Amino acid sequence: MSFEHILLEKKAAVGIIRFNRPKSMNALCQPLFAELSEALDDLESDDAIAAIIITGNDKAFAAGADIGEMVEASYQQMLADEGLNRQWDRIANCRKPVIAAVAGYALGGGCELAMSCDFIIAADNAKFGQPEITIGTMPGIGGTQRLTRLVGKARAMDMCLTGRMMDAQEAERAGLVSRVVPLESYFEEAFEAASLIAGFSRPVVKLAKEAVNAALETTLTQGLKTERRLFHSTFAFDDQKEGMKAFIEKRKPVFKHR
Ligand code: HXC
Repeated sequence: MSFEHILLEKKAAVGIIRFNRPKSMNALCQPLFAELSEALDDLESDDAIAAIIITGNDKAFAAGADIGEMVEASYQQMLADEGLNRQWDRIANCRKPVIAAVAGYALGGGCELAMSCDFIIAADNAKFGQPEITIGTMPGIGGTQRLTRLVGKARAMDMCLTGRMMDAQEAERAGLVSRVVPLESYFEEAFEAASLIAGFSRPVVKLAKEAVNAALETTLTQGLKTERRLFHSTFAFDDQKEGMKAFIEKRKPVFKHR
């Protein structure tokens, strides 16, 4: 499988997708979105892969959708493009865990793609923003919705209406990112986290991801019910027996992912 705008690598049980348009700060052109979807299809259907990292380079995760490509687009085209609209949601629809490893700029669609991942590990030079307002448009793939859920109305309004950026430290305080680490080690940190997750029971990881996502979609009462059902269902897996037995026997569990 060869790509022009991304790099795809498989390292042990971790799939790594790297945006690869360094000259344009990894601006997200349409072919890049198509390649991203294709790469995710491949990683999701590959049984050897248990966790995914999406990353860019040290200067930019992605500075947003490709402005040059969008400048002359019509309303009709934006509305009609089913493929592209589906591709914008591709990360959020991934059932395997996805970590965003973000260094440098994550702006506009770049910030939105990072927020579509399950969590964000940020380098200390990361900058997050929804600057669409400064170019006469607004966020279109989650910037007003996911950002508001993650950081609250005040900060989301501030970012979407003024276009100001948040640095990594503010993003961590605000709950947008799970950890901030030195630039030199952000990818290794993400890889370690992905490898750790990949070593746990894969079906149980899937259920835990589903349960956390339910928290953003429903009421507390309904979310707690969903969680309880999913928790009960982990007792149907050999891996739950193995995990608890291993603890009691003071040894490492050997999960069989069933
Ligand atoms: C196309 C882009 C780009 C983008 C940067 N470049 N961002 N090209 N689309 N989103 C290109 C520049 O034109 C330039 O190309 C090269 O990358 C380097 O960028 P500079 O601006 O020279 O670098 P710098 O001064 O360091 O500034 C970096 C920056 C700035 C702060 C990230 O480039 C910037 O503000 N970019 C736009 C951010 C933005 O508005 N994003 C939202 C897009 S709309 P040349 O050829 O001159 O070297 C969006 C909507 C999403 O994301 C909803 C649908 C998916």
